[in-house]
Amino acid sequence: MKYGYFDDNAREYVITTPETPLPWINYLGCKDFFGLISNTAGGYDFYKDAKLLRLTRYRYNNVPYDTGGRYYYIKDGDCIWNPGWQPVQTALDNYSCRHGMGYSVIEGTKNSLKAKLTAFVPLSDSCEINHLTLTNESEAVKEIDLFSFVEFCLWNAEDDATNFQRNYSTGEVEVVGSTIYHKTEYRERRNHFSFYSVNREIAGFDTDRASFTGFYHGLHNPDAVIKGESKNSVAHGWSPVGSHHLKVTLAPDESYTAIFVLGYCENPVEEKFVAPNVINKKPAEKLLAKYQKDEQVETALNELKAYWDKLLSVYSVKTHNEKLNRSVNIWNQYQCMVTFNMSRSASYFESGMGRGMGFRDSSQDLLGFVHLIPERARERILDIASTQFEDGSAYHQYQPLTKTGNLNVGSGFNDDPMWLIAGTGAYIRETGDFSILDEICDFDNDHTKAAPLLEHLRRSFNYIVNHKGPHALPLIGRADWNDCLNLNCFSETPGESFQTTGPSEGPVAESVFIAGLFVKYGKEYISILRHLGLNEEADKCAGEVELMTKAIETAGWDGEWFVRAYDAYSNPVGSHVCEEGQIFIEPQGMCIIGGVGVENGMAEKALKSVETRLDTKYGIMLNQPAYSRYHVELGEISSYPPGYKENAGIFCHNNPWIACAETMVGHGSRAFEVYKKTNPVFLEEIGEIHRTEPYAYCQMVAGKDAPSFGEGKNSWLTGTAAWTFTTISQFILGVTPDFDGLRINPCIPKEVESYDVVRKFRGKTYNIHIENPAHVEKGVKEFYVDGELHSGNLITPEMGGQEVDIRVILG
Ligand code: BGC
Ligand code: NOJ
Repeated sequence: MKYGYFDDNAREYVITTPETPLPWINYLGCKDFFGLISNTAGGYDFYKDAKLLRLTRYRYNNVPYDTGGRYYYIKDGDCIWNPGWQPVQTALDNYSCRHGMGYSVIEGTKNSLKAKLTAFVPLSDSCEINHLTLTNESEAVKEIDLFSFVEFCLWNAEDDATNFQRNYSTGEVEVVGSTIYHKTEYRERRNHFSFYSVNREIAGFDTDRASFTGFYHGLHNPDAVIKGESKNSVAHGWSPVGSHHLKVTLAPDESYTAIFVLGYCENPVEEKFVAPNVINKKPAEKLLAKYQKDEQVETALNELKAYWDKLLSVYSVKTHNEKLNRSVNIWNQYQCMVTFNMSRSASYFESGMGRGMGFRDSSQDLLGFVHLIPERARERILDIASTQFEDGSAYHQYQPLTKTGNLNVGSGFNDDPMWLIAGTGAYIRETGDFSILDEICDFDNDHTKAAPLLEHLRRSFNYIVNHKGPHALPLIGRADWNDCLNLNCFSETPGESFQTTGPSEGPVAESVFIAGLFVKYGKEYISILRHLGLNEEADKCAGEVELMTKAIETAGWDGEWFVRAYDAYSNPVGSHVCEEGQIFIEPQGMCIIGGVGVENGMAEKALKSVETRLDTKYGIMLNQPAYSRYHVELGEISSYPPGYKENAGIFCHNNPWIACAETMVGHGSRAFEVYKKTNPVFLEEIGEIHRTEPYAYCQMVAGKDAPSFGEGKNSWLTGTAAWTFTTISQFILGVTPDFDGLRINPCIPKEVESYDVVRKFRGKTYNIHIENPAHVEKGVKEFYVDGELHSGNLITPEMGGQEVDIRVILG
């Protein structure tokens, strides 16, 4: 069942009912100021950091599920309604929500009054704009009372949600004209405030929540709206909100617009006040002056659209498969930007309070983002590297605002170091900018310990070399990519964190996954060294990679697939000898991507095993058989009921690893089949089963052991976005940035006849036409640059002019 449709020309998903199976959301904001907005206008805003600088409140796990947002109440006679249906839930005569690139448009019609709400964050200012248009489509004059509503968060979202003995006494506001200023804690150490304004004269306002709603009322039946009159309340403590009351008279066919702006401002300490405890409002006034007229808003929205036109022109494909085109050209890349910005911090499943930027997560996000804005990727790499410890290991997370490591979530996840090489390699491949390796980055944010980025990569590499176990495989530490494989944790205390409990440094438990990762990105490091002329070091590293490959092919091989790990007793995990969890997806993917077993048949065998033992109609499960009971020696993985999350769920993130691995052995049809199974665009028709947004990947789909097989969870913030984009754009469609140029090496379903890719790369535009007359899955037979036959398949920078025509014939 579908709940809307794709409008590809507008790059929008159009939701046609407010009652989607879960809130279907969008992200507003590209750089510092962000808003989450659901199809019913729920959600919240923050500046840079969803935990530390939250502007508006949101209650996760609420009843009903998604309440709290930017709400506009319309009182038309006795009928009270919202353009997005929530929170009053008055049935609408017409409803739609268009989620686009960084903006959303929600339209509702009731009793011949149409309301259109356009929400976006402009490129150059720290604010969310809500442009509201009311149109009287009836034949009579309408007298309307319009009320706006946001609820302020007292900045630190965690404290705001827990520390009521303090919070109920600290809230402060100022109201000047049509602007409501929220200034809690501004009197003391905060130099920032927020505001919520409208470009119209107001009939009244409320800033005290209980005055607006009535004490035992809620957002669905606020007293002020029911009475048609604001209370002009000024919040002192309790819960500050922002609500404007506007009176609107509309003749038939007449339209009315109002521009609401929710913004964030900072003041220098010495300029905080204009009178005792009175905010210096200059920065807010300056910002507001830019959004007073409809045309100003329109210009800002057009700038945002033009920005996305440009970003999405870097890679686009034209195939005969409409769903593939829309996924690659629009939504997958859009999600890559969102994951780059948010890492795993704020979605409808990540509260924004728990996890900041992951070392591994943010490094992986770069793989799918780097082509969009390489300069921002560069900055991010240097930020990540600066949190690394001197021995090459890493804080698992860092806080986006402070950019410093956060030990609450621990360290000692032994795959982390290698991901820094992955992200840096992707950046250099995209840009050819080796100078990034000379950038001086702190260790552990301590400037006295700074060293060039290259030294950071070296420490990453050596960390693995220096932390091996009894089988010469890498020690796993607290866990590897699979945060729930906690082989040194042995937790028996309820509620204890599996990620931070127990000795992190077991000297025995090993990971075959990290071994594969080391081979893959060890080779990347070696290529970088060779480009720098550091051949001696490169040769030494090649020896290490060789040793690791051998270790995988011996201790890491189970006969039909790659073993997953060895536990703290040196017993295998993910082996046919295990009672449960005999085979895991991760080492099959990563070892093969690293090239292990490709020549000797192991790869083919392992992929066959994946197909027969792990595959389902909704994607490939993480492991099988699922763990049916808690295994203290394995940790969190066995804490999940069978079929969910890391315990035999279909973890979307590592499905593309298998698709990628399939391309390594030339199986284009199978690679594409794997790609399609977890792709939300291809699941649009089964929305009632899949439930999450058809335009965004989710982290996990319930596996076949789960009662809700096929149900998606945790949409948006997942490494799936970057990995699927890498897989489809580089490994399947075959346009891959290499250190020396752009390499063309498709691996496609054999029935594909032809397709085109436009790729902007290092300042040039390549129009690439692929033909497959012999219906093969892989293999470049002829390679033409501007009509001229060349050998190989690498486009180097000196070939052609600004626009280059590439024709590739497979065979
Ligand atoms: C989840 C993992 C996550 C980890 C760390 C676990 O509960 O299952 O997916 O990576 O927590 O936050
Ligand atoms: C989500 C985490 O963000 C990611 O780092 C991890 O690899 C996966 N879960 C798997 O556990």
